[in-house]
Amino acid sequence: MSKRVTLSELADLDRELVEAAQEACARAYAPYSLFAVGAAVRSKSGTIHTAANVENASYGLTICAEAAALSMANAAGDLTVESIAVVGFSIGDAGDRSQVITPCGSCRQIIAEAAQVTGSDVRILCCNGELSGITVSSISELLPDAFGLASIGTTSKPQLWREQLQTRVERLIAQRTK
Ligand code: THU
Repeated sequence: MSKRVTLSELADLDRELVEAAQEACARAYAPYSLFAVGAAVRSKSGTIHTAANVENASYGLTICAEAAALSMANAAGDLTVESIAVVGFSIGDAGDRSQVITPCGSCRQIIAEAAQVTGSDVRILCCNGELSGITVSSISELLPDAFGLASIGTTSKPQLWREQLQTRVERLIAQRTK
């Protein structure tokens, strides 16, 4: 069940995560919507990966903060996601400052994939800019019955697949001509 909490009620690790997401908002590239979003992913290793939204003059190419943060985790070889915090607020005067933002549908699908790869649910902490409004939920709650690996009959084990890929890349590197 989605739970509304205050900053002081959060465990230290969660507080650190939402503060990292709040700090990531400073890196938003959002000249069109003037809406800054920061996301912070905590992997099972304990590492935090952060990112902000990146917009484009071709509007549909916008990259959401959550997708960018998960991409950062993957780039670090650390896509075993435990929790993700999202902070968003309007940069201008428009908008309700108390509004707690939640991941868009597309980001929910991306988070669901990370949960399936990890093999466990992902906790989601949604916050307004001031961190005066925080809701704690999970991806299974925000996207029940998600389409995923099993839906298309993919049976490969992500960990095994990764190990095979790593071996293959190591071989390619070893074969480089001097
Ligand atoms: N945005 C995110 O970064 N994450 C979401 O889950 C919702 C929307 C961004 C996209 C765009 O740059 C701005 O917020 C306004 O939609």
